[in-house]
Amino acid sequence: MEFKNDIKISPSILSADYASLKSEIEKVKLGGADMLHVDVMDGHFVPNISIGPPVVKSIRKSTDMFLDCHLMISNPYDYIDSFASSGADLIAFHVESNSDIGETIDKIISAGVKPALVLKPGTDAEVVFPYLSKIAMVLVMTVEPGFGGQSFMSDMLSKIKVIREKAEEVNPKLMIQVDGGIVPETAKLCVEAGADVLVSGSYIFGAEDTASAISSLR
Ligand code: DX5
Ligand code: ZN
Repeated sequence: MEFKNDIKISPSILSADYASLKSEIEKVKLGGADMLHVDVMDGHFVPNISIGPPVVKSIRKSTDMFLDCHLMISNPYDYIDSFASSGADLIAFHVESNSDIGETIDKIISAGVKPALVLKPGTDAEVVFPYLSKIAMVLVMTVEPGFGGQSFMSDMLSKIKVIREKAEEVNPKLMIQVDGGIVPETAKLCVEAGADVLVSGSYIFGAEDTASAISSLR
């Protein structure tokens, strides 16, 4: 998994116009995005419903972009095969879900997909430590998951630092992603703390000039 930029930008299509998804995706690809962040919500793990495997499958047919799927669902283990066969490149699931963390990581790896763990703001960094050598990425939520357009929680910066320090010892290639309230000012703080993948929904899709929005985050 090689990306051309050290700081990778993953636009969240939660803020895109779902009726024009193909052109929305082309717009962020042309604008220089490194991957595409697909938010999956089940109305149970979070109080909102978004999209599922059939939409991932259609996206896969229409783009060669790296698909970074963020599962905000109660039972991710049960849906790994479905997302993998739909074309996900990376599957991130919450440590707070009902699924066994180790078994779910193994299932993702067996399906030929990159595994990632996600932490809600109230969950300690240490929960991911036992798994760091097996996973490709940790997603540190910088808002409560469920909705776009919320304000960045700056007390998450210390969590990013703690995970980056631990990763230096056990998995130096680990990517650390941040998601929620990312704009140029907060992006800078996250990168200084050790993040290298920035998700941004409302900032990128709300911008007049997509390419300059993406480069201003980077
Ligand atoms: C929130 C989602 C985010 C969301 C971010 O639960 O996980 O990916 O789209 O949106 P912004 O960038 O608007 O905070
Ligand atoms: Zn997300």
